[in-house]
This record gives sequence, structure tokens and C-alpha cells, in this order.
Amino acid sequence: MDNQPTELEQYERIPTKVYKTPDDAVGVVAASIARLIRRCQQEGRNAVLGLATGSTPVKLYRELIRLHRQEGFSFRNVVTFNLDEYYGLPPHHPESYRHFMEVQLFGQIDVPPENIHVPDGMISRSEVFGYCQEYERAVQDAGGIDLQILGIGRTGHIGFNEPGSGIDSRTRMVALDRLTRRDAARDFRGEANVPGYAITMGVGTILQAKELALLAWGESKAAILRAAIEGPQTETVPASFLQGHASCRCYIDAVAGAELTRFRFPWKVGPVDWKPIIRKAVVSLANDLKKPVLRLRDEDYTENGLAQLLVETGSAYTLNIRIFNELQHTITGWPGGKPNADDSNRPVPAEPAWKRVLVFGPEPLDAELGMAGTLHRLCRHQHEVTFAYLTSGNLGVPDNEARMAISLLNELNVNRPEDVQGKNRVEDLAHELEHKAPFDEDSLDLRQFKGLIRKAEARASCQVLGLALSRVHFLDLPFYEKGRYRQFTTGQEDVAAIQDLCQRILPHQIYITGSGADPNSVAGISFRLVSSALEACGNEAWMKACQVWMYASSERPWYPEEIDMAVPLSPAELAVKLDCLYHHRSQRSQTPFVETQSGESWQQAENNNRATARHYDRLGLAEYEAIESFKRHKESEARSRK
Ligand code: F6R
Repeated sequence: MDNQPTELEQYERIPTKVYKTPDDAVGVVAASIARLIRRCQQEGRNAVLGLATGSTPVKLYRELIRLHRQEGFSFRNVVTFNLDEYYGLPPHHPESYRHFMEVQLFGQIDVPPENIHVPDGMISRSEVFGYCQEYERAVQDAGGIDLQILGIGRTGHIGFNEPGSGIDSRTRMVALDRLTRRDAARDFRGEANVPGYAITMGVGTILQAKELALLAWGESKAAILRAAIEGPQTETVPASFLQGHASCRCYIDAVAGAELTRFRFPWKVGPVDWKPIIRKAVVSLANDLKKPVLRLRDEDYTENGLAQLLVETGSAYTLNIRIFNELQHTITGWPGGKPNADDSNRPVPAEPAWKRVLVFGPEPLDAELGMAGTLHRLCRHQHEVTFAYLTSGNLGVPDNEARMAISLLNELNVNRPEDVQGKNRVEDLAHELEHKAPFDEDSLDLRQFKGLIRKAEARASCQVLGLALSRVHFLDLPFYEKGRYRQFTTGQEDVAAIQDLCQRILPHQIYITGSGADPNSVAGISFRLVSSALEACGNEAWMKACQVWMYASSERPWYPEEIDMAVPLSPAELAVKLDCLYHHRSQRSQTPFVETQSGESWQQAENNNRATARHYDRLGLAEYEAIESFKRHKESEARSRK
């Protein structure tokens, strides 16, 4: 492997390949796995693969399955060792990693069952230590791992080596970090059901593999990847220890790589085409020097590596004014356009004054987190706002919420003994809820019922914003209703449902989210489905005139230089937004510790909106309470210009 960093990659301490999409990346990784297996076949030995679970490797495993099915590629000489397993889950449990691997890979290729190793999550506590040593020995007996596939957690963990794991740590039992448990809450229908412990290979064990490939997709991984790849080696970010391995490489997509110096501050690592990044450079200089844009001086530019920018654009004076105006023009209190106003410098056209607006929310709460204040404004400005929830979100409802709703229904039934059918359904659900174990899967009926809970919450939250309930649609896209997290398969029927709604509404504006999300997440899948539907409508007159906006998720606040439309919220509007968000009560954190409250998604959204406002303020623009941010959907705009 050629590990020499180029000038561009000079800050990167792990060689990193950045691909436009995860599909491009997994093609390369799958091909190198295939080459390894073939080479071992020729040498007459087994190839030993270290495997990971989670969302990240799903696409890679699909590509390996495709190689097997379509190209007859064989895995008969492959031995596998998985990184980790939840402690306390039996192998057949739907959320056990053993089960995951069976469904996502092993059951669909010809790897001999006796060659498969996944840590046993059911080993008794007293035997764990010896068992872990045996697991390590089995790896050695197999000749050591030839290639280890890794994902990275938002805590910086690899395997389940949470912050604090040492470089020499070995296979052992560990307690899971809170953030990791929260990330897994969806899989287990509530954080309270996520196992507290796991068995994992250690950092030291992982580093013994001959070759390592770390995969990561989506903007939620961008910050931790920068810390792991460019930061110091530290136990606080266990993935940073990969820097010490002679043959480790990261394969990531563009959004996951966005915080690396070569993308975030490209002028620091080589010559650049300034045109598309002028705003970014000026904002970052203002940030570094803690100065408003209009107070930056020529020396500030020349002394901070931006002399070339001045040469190309004139003086600090003209550059500052230009960027200040650009930022100023992103701000609007009229997200539906300001009637009868000169709109040449406004993000949204004035005409038609009355617009049809279509907002897509992947799951209930997503759009509310990103743009409740803007939705409220659009309603107040009398636009015709249609809100389409793409999925019901039933997989996110903890059992306790369902129990509470059932008890309400039971009360009602006591008063209406004549409704026998309804009474029977309630009894069946009550029975299921009473008898299911925390990790058990929900029946279809229970999923539907949980979907009803989320729909009721969604309707209540929409009413806070002034939306007409007749304009709130629940598309219940089939991919979600039939699937489960990390195992969704989309079809033409999903796209058709979205397309059909667009053609009924003929919107002037569409709002979506998920462009930077993990491609296997509901938001990521929803974004692709809406994009396909819009592409299919590309030639229609309404679509050519339609503005498509993307709203931010609560993952991270966008930087001012990324924002095309900033909608300020007054203190009163922010309060309305929070009131709207609180109606999604089934989504509140399940952990009963006061200090965890700051991790609530609505708290994150509020923090992000306030942070964006502070950022604009620091740059010398008006000081607002909070700001919701939007980007243009460039693909659909490019299409409509054709
Ligand atoms: C899984 C594992 C974990 C995951 C990490 C990322 O076997 O070892 O380290 O790779 O938590 O998870 P996803 O891919 O779901 O974002």
C-alpha cells in the first residue's frame, strides 16, 4: 500500500481516500477483499477477514454478495472474526451481531459455517476472561487477521473500544458509552433496552491485523474522523491509535471527509481555485481572528496565508464588503418570498406572492427539528403548506409509550363495551406488551399502533405551527413499513408515492433533508427517494420553476458560508418551535439522568439554531435569537436550468 501523503493530505496521519459516494468506496474495498481472497486461494491458504457490524459495512456486504451471486466469486477459503457482540444477547436475537451477520452476509455467501467466529454474548460472567483469551488465540491459530474492516462510532470507538480504551487493550468485556447507547436506541426501541455491556476485540488486538480498512459515511462522522485522522493519538479517541499502524487506510465519502483540512481549509494545503471558496476563506479568517468581516484588514489576509486571495480579488475593503453583502442576502424573514419587493438579492422570488409549499419529513420530528420556525412563518404568511411525513416512525416508539396509550384506550373501552372489535384489538396489544421481553421484535399490529402514536404526536405538533390538518399527509412509505433499521430495501413504489404527491400539489417550493445523512439511515434513504421522484418530474413545467431547499438536521449547525437561506427566529418564535418539538414526547431520551437532558434532539436543535445566530452576529451581521438554515438543492436547480 502506498502510504505517502501528498501535500494536500499533509495533515492526515492515516492515509485517507475520499469518494463521492459510499458506493464508489465500497466498490474499491470489495475489489481489494476479492484480490486478497484470490491471492490466498493461489497460495493454498485461508484468507482471514476481520468484520464489523453496524450501518457502515452494509453496502460493502451487499457488494460481496453481488460478487458471489453474479460473478460466482467463492468465499470457501475465508475465515472470519467479528469485532464484537452485545453482552446478554443470544445469537438468534434480531439485534445480536451474530444475527446481523447471518442476515447481511453469511447467509448469502458460501463461507463455511465452521469458519465463522463472532464473540459469544451469552458466556457467563465468570468465564468471560478465559473466553476472551481463547478468542484471541483462535485469531492467532488462524494465522492472524489479513484484513480488518472497521467502522467508527461518534465517540471515536472502533469495535466497542470506547474512549478510555488503551492502545494495548485486548479482547474483553466493556461498558458501552452513553452516546453509543443512544445511537443504538432505535435498534432496540428505546435507550433503556440497549444492552449496557459488550464483548469486543481490544485496540491492541485490532492493531495486530496485517491490514486495516476504516469505512465511514455521512456528516455525523465528519468531526470525529477529523479528530481520529488529524488529531493526536489519544485514548479519548481510540480510533486515533490507527495512526500507528503501517497498513491502515480510511475509505470515506465526501460528507464524512468535510472536516479534514484539505476540504475545510483547502488553501492551507496547496494552491486553490478561489472562486467557489471565497466566502469560506473570509468567514474562516474572521473566525480565527475573532473579528467581524468588515473589520478585517489587508494585513489580516496577508499574515494568515490568504495573500493570494487578495491578489486575485483586490483589497480587503472590497472583499469584505462583497462577502458581508453575500451573507446579508442569505437572511430573510420571508421564506416564501416577500410580495411586491425587489427580490434581486433575496433567496426566494417574490412571485407568485402566494406559494404552494411541500415539506417532506423522513420521520416525524425531523422536519420540525430543522425548520419548525420557518414552517410557522410560511403558515403565518398564508402560503399553502403541505407537510408530508414519509414514514410513520413506528420503529422509534419505546414500549412504555405504547403501554401508556393502551391504558388510555382501555379506559375508553370500559366506557364503550359495545365496541367488541376495538376491545379485542386493544386486548391483543395489551397482551403482547405485557408478555414481550425488552429485546423482542414487535408484531405488525404493534408496529402499526406505535405508528399511530407518532402520527398523533405529529398532528398535535403541526397544529402548534398553524398547519391545516387536511394538509398533513402520512405516506407510510413501504420501504419503512416492511423493513427495520439497517435492513431497508426501497422500491419503485416508494418513489411513485412521492412523485404522485408532488404532481397533485404542483409546489413552488419543496423542503427536504438528509443529503449529508448516513445513506442507510431513514433520512438518507428518504433523501434519495425524494431526489429520484424530483428527477422523474424534471421535465414538468412546475418542477422547472420549483425551488428545492434542504433543511439542516440536528447533527451539526451549518457554517454561515454553507448557508443559502437563513431564517431568523425571534424569542417568541423559538418558543413556538420548542412547544412544537415537545409534542413528540415518545422521542424524548429514555435515560433517567438529569444531566442527559442536553442530549435531547430538541435541545440539540435549539443549540444549533442559537449557535448559527451567534455565528452571524460574530461576523458582524444582525444579532438574532436563533436562525434556521437552508441550502439549495443544486442538482434540481441545475436540471431546471437545462
Ligand atoms: C460494530 C462496531 C462499531 C461500529 C461503529 C459504527 O461491529 O464495531 O465500532 O463500527 O459503532 O457504527 P455504524 O456503522 O452503525 O455507524
